[in-house]
Amino acid sequence: MAQNFRKVEQVDQWKEMMFLYGAALKEINAKIEIMNDEFEERYGHSPIEHIKSRLKTPDSIVRKLKADGYEVTIENMKEKLNDIAGIRVICSFMSDIYQIADMISRQADVTVLYVKDYIKNPKPNGYKSYHMVVTIPVYLSDGAVDTKVEIQIRTVAMDFWASLEHKIAYKLVGNPPGNLMRELKACADMVDILDAKMFSLNKAITAIVEARESWAKEETEGES
Ligand code: GTP
Ligand code: MG
Repeated sequence: MAQNFRKVEQVDQWKEMMFLYGAALKEINAKIEIMNDEFEERYGHSPIEHIKSRLKTPDSIVRKLKADGYEVTIENMKEKLNDIAGIRVICSFMSDIYQIADMISRQADVTVLYVKDYIKNPKPNGYKSYHMVVTIPVYLSDGAVDTKVEIQIRTVAMDFWASLEHKIAYKLVGNPPGNLMRELKACADMVDILDAKMFSLNKAITAIVEARESWAKEETEGES
């Protein structure tokens, strides 16, 4: 009987925990969408291509805790895992990444716990992305609960590499052999070149458009 009560209590705690992470995800999502809209309004283009968010599945929560050597408890899930709620922001250009990260960290109710900058310091396999773990308060009827969300910010090109690498590496248990590692790294280097090229193309095109607009303005002013 007592054991049944404990089980019911655990199920309730589990539901409450997942509810909090789901709510935190919605709040961060809304914030990022508003930032994107404001950016678009102000600069005439939106830095975000798309946003993906997900809650970690019960399976992978348990697997991760066990792999890290922790007992599977609700307490440990909240304390030891930082990516139960995860959001991925895919932007157009490398320069957008730091702007978005900056906009997120300047939000008054967002606390940045830590940052991992795999753009300045890519992983040996070539993985690039900007990671932030933040907390955001979720307001319940009996008070606010600070809830963790992992935010990954990367370009479309970086996301292309990471998605395929994840698929490829997932099939292999452990690290891929040296030659395949080198090939993956070579692909990451190509992705870098692509990002840099697109960035400079965008800059060049923006400069032409701005120059044309200012000529047009001068001409109409000259006429009047
Ligand atoms: P875990 O990797 O979850 O144990 O946590 P950590 O503290 O090492 O965080 P890290 O910032 O290294 O990675 C968190 C997440 O980033 C992962 O769950 C992946 O989504 C992503 N990630 C990190 N490294 C790689 C990588 O080499 N390839 C791919 N495709 N994704 C990666
Ligand atoms: Mg890791």
